[in-house]
Parts: sequence; structure tokens; C-alpha cells
Amino acid sequence: MNIPKRYLVTSALPYANGPLHIGHLAGAYLPADIYVRYLRLMGRDVVFVCGSDEHGAAITVKAKKEGCSPKEVVDKYHAVLRDSLKGIGIQFDIYHRTSEPIHYQTSQDFFRTLLQNGQFEEIESDQYFDEAVGQFLADRYIVGTCPKCQAPDAYGDQCEKCGSSLSPNELIEPRSTLSGSTPVKKPTRHWYLKLNEHEEWLRNWINTGVGPDGKTLHLPSEWKNHVIGQCNSWLDGGLQPRAMTRDLDWGIPVPPELPGSENKVLYVWLDAPIGYISATKQWALDNGKEWEPYWKSEDTALVHFIGKDNIVFHCLIFPAILKAHGGFVLPVNVPANQFLNLEGRKLSTSKNWAVWVHEFLAEMPAEQGDALRYNMVRKMPEQADSEFTWKGYQETTNNELVNNLANFVNRVLVLTQKYYGGVVPAFEADCSFQSGFRPGETTLAGPELEALSAKVSEIGKQIESYNFKEALRLLMEVSSAGNALLQFNEPWKTIKESPELVKAVLGLSLQVVTALSVLMRPFMPEAASRLRSMLALPTFTDQSEWQVLEAQLANSEWPLPIGHTIGAAAHLFSRIPDELIDAQIAKLNQTQSEVAEAPSGIQYTPLKEMIQYDDFAKMDIRTGTILTAEKMEKSKKLLKLQIDLGFEQRTVLSGIAEHFTPEEVVGQQVLLLANLAPRLMMGVESQGMILMAEHPDGKLAFVAPGEKWPSGMGVK
Ligand code: MF3
Ligand code: ZN
Repeated sequence: MNIPKRYLVTSALPYANGPLHIGHLAGAYLPADIYVRYLRLMGRDVVFVCGSDEHGAAITVKAKKEGCSPKEVVDKYHAVLRDSLKGIGIQFDIYHRTSEPIHYQTSQDFFRTLLQNGQFEEIESDQYFDEAVGQFLADRYIVGTCPKCQAPDAYGDQCEKCGSSLSPNELIEPRSTLSGSTPVKKPTRHWYLKLNEHEEWLRNWINTGVGPDGKTLHLPSEWKNHVIGQCNSWLDGGLQPRAMTRDLDWGIPVPPELPGSENKVLYVWLDAPIGYISATKQWALDNGKEWEPYWKSEDTALVHFIGKDNIVFHCLIFPAILKAHGGFVLPVNVPANQFLNLEGRKLSTSKNWAVWVHEFLAEMPAEQGDALRYNMVRKMPEQADSEFTWKGYQETTNNELVNNLANFVNRVLVLTQKYYGGVVPAFEADCSFQSGFRPGETTLAGPELEALSAKVSEIGKQIESYNFKEALRLLMEVSSAGNALLQFNEPWKTIKESPELVKAVLGLSLQVVTALSVLMRPFMPEAASRLRSMLALPTFTDQSEWQVLEAQLANSEWPLPIGHTIGAAAHLFSRIPDELIDAQIAKLNQTQSEVAEAPSGIQYTPLKEMIQYDDFAKMDIRTGTILTAEKMEKSKKLLKLQIDLGFEQRTVLSGIAEHFTPEEVVGQQVLLLANLAPRLMMGVESQGMILMAEHPDGKLAFVAPGEKWPSGMGVK
């Protein structure tokens, strides 16, 4: 394998519209961090950039929901994201933000260059416009039925259900996410990137690894199948010119010198990936380095870590933008991950179905940060969606981190203290013992060290090929082999009669522990550091420790030299008690209590058939208050209610007499379907219907505003 001269590694810039959850972590941040930490430990030149994505509808929609300004939203969540990422040990060289002036400058300059290079086409077209709020609707401002999979709420740019990229014009029955209304069309003018002109080289590059200049840039076998597959399904649909500007007031202004730029901003998916470049520029400024080699030099390996919903942007659109600009390298890989689910359901920020990293860090013992990283790798959705459960978390942590890894380390260090006062013992090279790496065989220290050496190299190769799960599995095999070494040879029993054997076994075990301290570093950086200090080895410099270890093992040198005195043993990880896990499960369920989630035993009736917003909009539902109530003669079920709507009163017959007495309901606030055609019942005209929630066991409950509310207010 040719080693690139330098690496520029990126993790998708998270939208600053919410905190970081474990799905983000497993998708784009942790794998990148492991990769980068490994590269650094191999002495490679690597810059790792990220930052907050502060533009786009994701931000403004959130601002509207929280009733504050977009600026307040991004300031708040930028800090939360930055601190969560740091807290969980993601070691960026810079965590930037797309609201920085250097990014505005970089993005606008990019735009100017693309324009100069003839990459844009100015097109006037009719676009959806929300008359209620006076805004054009693109991307996430508009939803409708997906023309490909019929999902009811596909966005104007993408259907999250089937992953298709869409334009608002393709949506069936579109509606505004701002007001819910059906939009009208109005003409507007935009700059379109001629993506169609890039289709051919993109197809070739994605499928053969041969770039636009005819040079082989990567091997297709190095890319994940699902990444190539998603690109091809896009390419098969044909690439269309794509608007790179929007009619919005939140975003980076289109360069103001251009005629027609007023009230127009850059498309967020133009500015955000350029954020990788501005972040690199800022890093270079801060550190007295040059940014250009990392983006422009052919011997740079650019790697984008992302989640699968970002594939087309990183594999087709951004590469097209880089090529259209000229002078930039293309990514050598885009190792996108699939999605992580939580307890059987899709993670969702808006539904608060998530494990939030900042809460995890605040609520769990400090060492659990690394345990979370470990669990995230174990469940990493590298090739397919996967699933996180709290019980699984507890089991994995207790069985693997505590019983295997921490236990091995502890036994070795404690026995070394006990038998040799903490000094790494010398031993006879021809002293044979039971092998830990090859169970059932008798072996010598030399071959055991060779087996360890082979594992270390293999783990590195797997990391370099983005197979993080496999790398971690192999790491745990090393720990298991260490445990087997102790278990088969039982030094605590043989110390008296075979002191030489015990020296060999523990001496070798100490080498395994030392190797583990380095192997752990990319996955569990904190625990690795703690282990390092237990071994009384220097603090990590994160510059070449893996490389040094690999070289030592290859030369049959002991990474922990004979005569070295180790420090005191401490527990690397402790068992997670049920209480901690139960509390987390309870919390998750609590936030969900209002969501239709089965309390045990309830049978749900199937959902009714899909309706359109317009069907719903036909209903005039109002808040009201029950003024009087009386039983209807000759009816067991009906109460006759007098309901105040503020502007008028209604008589309503309601089938609630078996559930409520008249006294109970007077003064109750209700929701009334006010434009239901009147109906004559038992000689009385009922002028509407009140809404009730029905429990399967037959109980009824009033549906009303959560607080005292004036009568006659509309419900939407
Ligand atoms: N903010 C986007 C998301 O969360 C990712 C942006 S990645 C970048 O889906 F390339 F645009 F930076
Ligand atoms: Zn779809």
C-alpha cells in the first residue's frame, strides 16, 4: 500500500440545531476519530477538521419552533456540540463554525470562481411560494408525498424514507412546513450548477476509481458497496443542473456585486462542505502552517466520514464542485456509515428519542465515556443499520470490558507487584509454557510475541481499511489470548514449583498489556492513558507510539523492557450496576410517555388510511367550555351540553353520560368540531361534536388545551 504524504480527514459538520446523540457519534465522528488517532500513532501527517453547520432550513425551522432567532439557535448548539464532541474524546485539530468571516469569504470566493469558470447557468423558473409567510419554499421548507416511494412527508430536496433526491416540483400534494398551507408558484431566478456536465466523469470515477485526468485515485474495492450503490442509483436517474442559491435571509449572501443577488443566499449544501476548507485555513492560520497542500497536493489523501444521508453530497455534488473550481483533490474514500437505531426505533432529535452525549457524560461515571465509545464500535453500522439497547450496553461493558480486558490487565499488574515488586522479570528464553494465542499448544516467549506482533499489524490494517468493528474484535482477541495465557498456566498455582515458567508467562503478559495500551488508544483514549500510567510509561505523545510498538515487536524486542518498574494497578473499568441502566431506560421511556408507545398489553387498532392536509384543514375545531350539562331523558348515553365558543353558544349531544355526571363536566374545557353538519337526535339538534380520547378499556378522557384557554380559538 502506498502511504500518502498527508491526510485531510473530515467529519460531517453537524447542524447546530440540536445536541449530539449516539447516532451522530457512531456515524461520522467516532470512526473518524479512531482512524485519525491511529494515523497519528503511526507517525502520519494528518489534519482532522470539523465544525458546526449553521445555515439551512434545519436552523431556521428550529428557531421558529423554539421561538428565538437563528443566531441564538446556532450559538447555543454550537457550544453544546463542541463540548460533547470534546467530552467524548473526538480529537479534532479544529472545530470551526460556518458563521465565521473566513468561511463567508471562502464560500463567496468559491462561488465567484465557479461563475467565472462557466459552471453556472442562470435560470428563471416558477418555484413554490408560501403566501402566508411570504417566502419561497425549497429543501426542508416544503414537504409532500414522495413520487418514488409514496412516503407522505418527503422533503423538497430528499426523501428520508427511500433516500431519493428530489426537487420540490416532484412532490405530490406539496405543502409548506412553515404554515402548512398549499403553496403557489412564483417566478424566481437562481444560479444552477451544471451537474449534468459532470455526470460522465463522476460515474467513471465512482465505479473505477479513475479520476477526470485519467489517473487511478483509488480502487473501487476500497469503497463500501452501499456507498457506490447509492451513487449509482443517483447517476442512473441522470444528474440535473442544481440550484446553488436560495431566496432566504439566513445564510451566506450571494456575492453582492452580482446583479440579482439581493435577498439571495448560497445553498447550504454549497457552503457547508466548503466549511471543511475554511476550517483547514483557520487551523493553518492558528498553527503557522499552510492549508493548501492538504487540499491541493496530489499526494494528499482526503477522507470524508459521514452518515449515509450525506452520501450524494460528498460523493457527487461536492466532488463536482471541487472539480468545477479546479485545483482541488478528490476524496480517496467516503466511508459512510448506515444508521444506528435505539431500542428498536429510529433515533430522532425531534421526537427526543435519543441518547444525548452531553447527558451521558453528565450522568454516567467518567470511565463510561470510553465504554460508550467501545459500545459504539461494537454496534457500528458499517455496512448495515444496527441497534443500540441499554441492556446490551450493560452486557457488553460488563462481559467484555470488565470481565475480559480490565480483568486481564488487573491480574497481570497485581501479580507482577506481588511476585516481583512491580519489576518486569527477566526469564529464560527456552522456558516453555501453554500458549495463549494458540490454545492447546505448548510454546516459548518468542513465538508468542510473534503472534502478538501479527495481531498488532492486522489491527492497524483493518483500521486503515475502515473496518473498525473488525479491528476492535481483534483487539479483544489479544486480551482474550492474554487471559488464556494466565488461565492455562495458572501462575498463582505454579509460582512455587515453577518460578521460571511464571516469569516467562507474566513477562509475556506484561508485553501483551503494554501492546494493549497502544492498541486501545484510538478506541478508548482515556482508558489507554490510565493504563499507560499504571505501567509507568510516558504519557502518550500521539505521534508514533503504534509505529514504535509495531517495529519493536517485529524485531522481537520487548516493548516493556526487563527491569522496568510498573506503577500501581487500578481498575480500568468497573461493572455497570442495574440501577444505572434502569435509570437510563426509565428516562428514555419517560420522555416518550406522550408518544404512542405500548404500555404493556394494549392492542392498537391499525391507522386509518392516509389523508391529505387539505382533508384535515376542512375541519373547524375550536376550543370551548361546557356551561351546562343535563341528562337526556330516555337515553343512557347522552348528555345535553351547552357549550360556549366565545362568539356563540352551541347545544351538543354527547355520548358521555356513562362516563361522567353532569356536575363533573360543567366548566370543563373541550375541543369542539364546530363545522360538523347539525344532526337531530331524540328531537334535539346537536350542533357539533366534542373530541374525546378513548382507552381500549372503554374509558374516555376530555381532550383540551393543557392550560386555561379562551373559548373559540382555532385548532390546527
Ligand atoms: N449538516 C449536515 C447534516 O447534518 C452535514 C453537512 S456535511 C458538510 O446532515 F459537508 F456539508 F459539511
Ligand atoms: Zn421516498
